[in-house]
Amino acid sequence: MAILLPGGAGYIGSHTAIELLEAGKEIVIIDNFSNSNPRVLESIKKITGKDFKFYEIDYMHKEKLQKVFEENTIESVINFAGFKAVGESVQKPIEYYRNNISGALVLLDTMRKYGCKKFIFSSSATVYGEPERIPLTEDCKTGGTTNPYGTTKLFIEQILKDIYTSDNTWDICILRYFNPVGAHKSGRIGEEPQGIPNNLMPYIVRVASGQLKELSIFGDDYDTPDGTGVRDYIHVVDLAKGHLKALEKINKEGKGLYIYNLGTGTGYSVLDMVKAFEKTTGKKVNYKIAPRRLGDIATCYADPKKAKEELGWEATKTLEDMCQDSWNYMANQEYLT
Ligand code: WQD
Repeated sequence: MAILLPGGAGYIGSHTAIELLEAGKEIVIIDNFSNSNPRVLESIKKITGKDFKFYEIDYMHKEKLQKVFEENTIESVINFAGFKAVGESVQKPIEYYRNNISGALVLLDTMRKYGCKKFIFSSSATVYGEPERIPLTEDCKTGGTTNPYGTTKLFIEQILKDIYTSDNTWDICILRYFNPVGAHKSGRIGEEPQGIPNNLMPYIVRVASGQLKELSIFGDDYDTPDGTGVRDYIHVVDLAKGHLKALEKINKEGKGLYIYNLGTGTGYSVLDMVKAFEKTTGKKVNYKIAPRRLGDIATCYADPKKAKEELGWEATKTLEDMCQDSWNYMANQEYLT
């Protein structure tokens, strides 16, 4: 009985694969390396000392996906196979809707065909749009997403709700990630954005390493304590552990559709992040204040109480861990090259 991880070679997928293997679970990874590197698979094996089956396929390819279900007994699926670059999604909406939504439909249809009805979905705090209130609880209104990436998450959540309504023998868990950062403590796996990063932490790391000149802080006139945007940064290993708890929940509780925020419940500003990074790593992060970025909100952080009460999960890593581990990964890359 194995857990299938589409997109398991990616940033969050690979960290979750490690936690699953270390917990003694059997996994099967499928990935087409559209935003990941085959090297990651070897790193997962080195870190855990464990082996797993891998298929280099696109999860949208129905016949190839069916073969995976024919050749393995898949009991549950954690879907990490989504495009995730906000800016790119504005330029390439068709690609984003096709990969994220059509891909999820092919996957869910195939699961149904093989009687596999346990599904964990990587959603995002972005589904809340302009927050109804802070901290965000799972019952806050969703909608009003400002880019196709966010809209794919919103639509897939709706698709999952409709599937559950039509057939309540599914077990579905929607995990709304806040801002994942950090890397595995080994320094062997981490986030590898292609080209110039859009997200804050990968950008900070590249400024600190000298690859980029300076960070542009998008706005210092928000209604926040220091005027810069506030977010709920969560260490990717904490996030990965949340998936194990979600799996336990749907295996134990039986039928249901569950939604959880995976965040720390603490908001940090852009300037907090820069200062924490400099203090933790001893590296300088040059920055300038730039205009606000279109579509950004002032403040976004989670109320993580529901996940704590119902999953027994809470984030334990500190802001220093997030900074140090992000930096270690980068430093390790430089050392390796
Ligand atoms: C964080 C803060 C920026 C870059 C997005 C997606 C979300 C999730 C995570 C991913 C904001 C500021 C950033 C920079 C800056 N998706 N910033 N200079 O926008 O909260 O969330 O990424 O896979 O769905 O929407 O994250 O890291 O881009 O920004 O000042 O160069 O840092 O304005 O306040 P965001 P982020």
